[in-house]
Amino acid sequence: MADIILGIESSCDDTSAAVICDGVLLSNVIASQQVHKDFGGVVPELASRAHEQNIVPVVSEAVRRAGVSLEDLTAIAFTRGPGLLGSLLVGTSFAKALALSLDIPLVMVNHLQGHILANFIREADVTPREPQFPYICLLVSGGNSQIVKVKSPLEYEILGQTIDDAVGEAFDKCAKMLGLGYPGGPVIDRLARQGDPERFHFAKPSVPGLDYSFSGLKTSLLYFVRDRMAEDPSFLENNKEDLCAGFQKALIDTLMQKLVRAAKESRIREITAGGGVSANSGLRERLLAEGEKRHWNVYLPPLKYTTDNAAMIAIAGWFQYKAGVRTPLDIAPVSSLSAF
Ligand code: KG4
Repeated sequence: MADIILGIESSCDDTSAAVICDGVLLSNVIASQQVHKDFGGVVPELASRAHEQNIVPVVSEAVRRAGVSLEDLTAIAFTRGPGLLGSLLVGTSFAKALALSLDIPLVMVNHLQGHILANFIREADVTPREPQFPYICLLVSGGNSQIVKVKSPLEYEILGQTIDDAVGEAFDKCAKMLGLGYPGGPVIDRLARQGDPERFHFAKPSVPGLDYSFSGLKTSLLYFVRDRMAEDPSFLENNKEDLCAGFQKALIDTLMQKLVRAAKESRIREITAGGGVSANSGLRERLLAEGEKRHWNVYLPPLKYTTDNAAMIAIAGWFQYKAGVRTPLDIAPVSSLSAF
């Protein structure tokens, strides 16, 4: 009998549900919340209320588009954390209730595991290039920046991680500082493409080992812009593109420096990236260029699977289900679920 897994993702501001059958994606529905735009960031209380409104229609639509019925489901995979607790509670409670009512197993998924396994999402008409184990994943999102050694679908080792802000947070906070709106990553990405990355330079952090730090870069941009604005109030408006290009380059240089070192030290040439920031066009280009230069095999998930989605939760859940993982119904979500 085929394994049909329903995946549910509600860790932040996207309510998403996906259905996979024996590892092949049948549907992936995402309701992105627009309510946060005016606030310059995700408002947790508004996010959980929106999840409450969205969860039933999103799951119904995912099941409908997959062409299955609820009774066909084999198991339900859901994001347990990390994320916003109120948001996670909605997805977790819904997954538990549905699993109980259908009398099928529940499988919890670490959201980060979903990003790390996003390259394994298979669509019916597309054969994905899948990395060989062990591989290194540059996991870069709004809440995390890690270099992870992936030994198998269920075994991970964190080689390095940020000691302060996540890189996505640096993108978002700087975009806010420059008055570019939220979420900042895509806007900075777009403007950076029109700018000169060599015109402005920002102090790069120096952190031992394979760890990262991004809070200093943010402060460096803040002071730089403040000082220039004191001399010329139109400085920001006239130099937005070059500022974004220089700042984005500093972030990418920082990410790549440690990634290169991690690959060398672990002698791994299979390299992937995951998480929202892996949608960044500059980072994707650098990963491919560096891969060419260093004879890496680089695997980048399709853009639609870089940001939060339930397809990655369903695929991670399927790997766990096949390995015999079952989650008890008294499980609670955890906001700061540390990786693995
Ligand atoms: O993975 P994700 O959707 O949510 C988390 O799990 O955190 O990542 C969201 C982050 C935000 O910080 C957003 O600004 C960033 O990913 N992001 C980007 C781009 N698209 C999304 N950052 C840089 N360039 C992009 N194109």
